[in-house]
Amino acid sequence: MRLCINVDHVATLRNARGETQPDPVTFALMAEEAGADGVVVHLREDRRHIKDRDLYLLRDLLKTKLDLEMACSDEIIKIAGKIVPELATLVPEKRQELTTEGGLNVLDNMAMVSDTINRLHDSDIKVSLFIEPDINQIDASKEIGADFIEIHTGVFANYVREEDKIEELERISIAAKHAKKLGMGVNAGHGLNYHNIKLFRELNNEIDEVSIGHAVIAKALFVGVDRAVKEMLELIEGK
Ligand code: PXP
Repeated sequence: MRLCINVDHVATLRNARGETQPDPVTFALMAEEAGADGVVVHLREDRRHIKDRDLYLLRDLLKTKLDLEMACSDEIIKIAGKIVPELATLVPEKRQELTTEGGLNVLDNMAMVSDTINRLHDSDIKVSLFIEPDINQIDASKEIGADFIEIHTGVFANYVREEDKIEELERISIAAKHAKKLGMGVNAGHGLNYHNIKLFRELNNEIDEVSIGHAVIAKALFVGVDRAVKEMLELIEGK
């Protein structure tokens, strides 16, 4: 299971003062140096955290992989076409939400999502769809040409009781195996942290990559980026 670090909330902190620090690009490069397999940023239409400048700098400076989270938006599709990230992950986007709330409803938005996938494919960009661990959503994703899915792990992360977590993990495992059988890559993310990753890593063989942001950034405030990333990598490896 590879680890990609989402640096959106470094930008949230920077923007809180309207200044240039802390810089999400510096954080991303340090995470990469510490062993992260890639970096994720969500360029929102309202630019509430990541800004265009961050994206262009990351494109120039990253040595690993850039995963651009984005909505099915004409403006952002055009930007993606210019920077050509290694992966574009399509997510639902609402102005009022604090963070992405739940997966994309592919079934109800087939035409829009399919059109976005086609336009990104025209620019040679692989596309992942952020969805719930739901067989019908997975089948719909395959039908419209998604290369990857990213399974929303928010429900798993929010459960408190161990038995609820294990039940949700089973649901994720079934979904991941189904997507793999259809030939898609399987990523996962949202709400994963230093505690719940110990259980989540049981899906090591089913999940290709996890995308983790908030927990690593929060820990890095106290112990530094290098240690925060390395500790997460060690937990994923079961050390
Ligand atoms: N994956 C997706 C699609 C997301 O929207 C987010 C949050 O930006 C994450 C992963 C990372 O979630 P977290 O910050 O809770 O680790």
